[in-house]
Amino acid sequence: MARILPNFLYLCVIVFAFLSALMIIDSFHECSSAELDATRELLKKYSHQVQFVKNERKTLIEKLETQRSVDGTKHNSWLPELPVIYLITPTHSRAEQKADITRMSHTLKLVPNIHWIVIEDSEQKSDMVSRLLEQTGLNYTHLNVLTPQKFKMASKDPNWLKPRGVLQRNAGLEWLRNHKNSPAKKGVLYFADDDNTYSLQIFEEMRFTQKASVWPVGLVGYLRYERPIVEKGQVVGWFTAWKPDRPFAIDMAGFAVNLQLVLKYPKAGFSNEVRRGYQESTFLSGLQLTLSDLEPKANMCSEVLVWHTRTEKSSMENEAKLMKKFGKASNPNIEV
Ligand SMILES: *[C@@H]1O[C@H](CO)[C@@H](O)[C@H](O)[C@H]1NC(C)=O
Repeated sequence: MARILPNFLYLCVIVFAFLSALMIIDSFHECSSAELDATRELLKKYSHQVQFVKNERKTLIEKLETQRSVDGTKHNSWLPELPVIYLITPTHSRAEQKADITRMSHTLKLVPNIHWIVIEDSEQKSDMVSRLLEQTGLNYTHLNVLTPQKFKMASKDPNWLKPRGVLQRNAGLEWLRNHKNSPAKKGVLYFADDDNTYSLQIFEEMRFTQKASVWPVGLVGYLRYERPIVEKGQVVGWFTAWKPDRPFAIDMAGFAVNLQLVLKYPKAGFSNEVRRGYQESTFLSGLQLTLSDLEPKANMCSEVLVWHTRTEKSSMENEAKLMKKFGKASNPNIEV
């Protein structure tokens, strides 16, 4: 029966049977006034209990909402007394771009006082990136600058062959320098690529950088990590397998600099002309920094709080196969 009838009908039958039963029972005897009083008492008691449960529910909802707004001050919030972290993120169009930016934006939403400068390697700002940024609710600046063809990597080139993001990072620097007054005075600059993985802690490590702070980066340089070597609280060299004699043998994700320093040395930047692996050194030398200026973070550079993860390039080879077989592959109107 229960399987055949929809639940609602089943319920109706039960209610109807119950009411009929009540009517039959009722017809057998007249209520005494004592019985009526007792019933009244019972009803009163139940209505009290219902009221109690309702109040309980209200209190719980209120508690939950307060909790939410407490969390809200941690998420995506702005505390005027706290230095602002300016993130410069170059990005280029690829199949994995939306996934990478989405993931990164969700990390940043958990960090207070963020200003995200995103620079597309493109002739025009894309709708997709514009929309994504708008949706984050973060403070952001959206720029674009196209890398000239001669500096572009062919898709088969190993990813270290030509520097990436040079013009985009420079555009971000230029924005900071031209908006001297709109950025907060107290600030720190970090070059944060869109495919890395960031612990929330790394942002708090860098937030109070005096000049330049440094820390290890995981999964980089064909090693488990690269890191500054620290002796007696001072950076004295670099743990890396590749060109350890570079002035600053550190990955882009391994340092942050005080905003005032960036404004003080307006020529410091990146270049498509420098030797491979020297972008970081070029920028940091441009800020007139030396090893003794570096502030070791992440527990004296003994903890990895950022990873050079890189997103695997997705194969789309079945798209062509479907096209060949059915003359039709995936719907191009569905954004990925
Ligand atoms: C953006 O920055 C302004 C100050 O420049 C601040 O008042 C506002 O709360 C910030 N918004 C977010 C979402 O961080």
